Amino acid sequence: MVRLLLACCLVVAGLALFSATPESSFAAGYSSFSADGDVVPVEESMHEFMEYVFQPTYLRLKQSMATAPADNKGWKAIKSDSLILAESCNLLFSRAPEEGHADWIAHAKASREKGATLYKAAAAKDFTAADSAWKSMLESCNACHKQFEEGKHILKP
Ligand code: HEC
Repeated sequence: MVRLLLACCLVVAGLALFSATPESSFAAGYSSFSADGDVVPVEESMHEFMEYVFQPTYLRLKQSMATAPADNKGWKAIKSDSLILAESCNLLFSRAPEEGHADWIAHAKASREKGATLYKAAAAKDFTAADSAWKSMLESCNACHKQFEEGKHILKP
């Protein structure tokens, strides 16, 4: 009986909540996170962002790119990591410092385009093209590191 009453109360409370938000419950559920659909950084520290998004992806790609993949699984690994890096470069734009803003954007764009070329080469299973895109992407990653990190984090293929 007590359980039944409790269940009734829950249902009534649930209905009251539901009718209090008549507009799309989907939008209502996420409204406190980002009302207008803006990109909101989860991790504001550039250091943590590079260390936990870029670094592990780079290290995996380095291994996958050491030799031409023998099977589809190997190509999928390259496709996945190159896409993660290329898309993550989009998240660098909003992190540009005031000083050297335009250069930062240019480095991020170049890294993204070369990451995209690597992704496409992996989709086409073309290792020669993938290898040159990989090396060329790292040059763009490093160009930003040279300018904004005084030459630290120079990544090797
Ligand atoms: C627009 C500038 C920019 C671009 C482009 C860029 N990075 Fe970085 N990266 C940084 C900065 C700044 C740091 C140093 C962050 C810190 O420690 O404060 C960094 C640090 C790193 C580190 C060292 C992380 C650590 O914890 O030691 C790695 C690895 C790295 N980046 C990988 C990459 C890769 C791979 C690419 C290309 C796909 C790339 N980055 C492109 C700005 C950039």
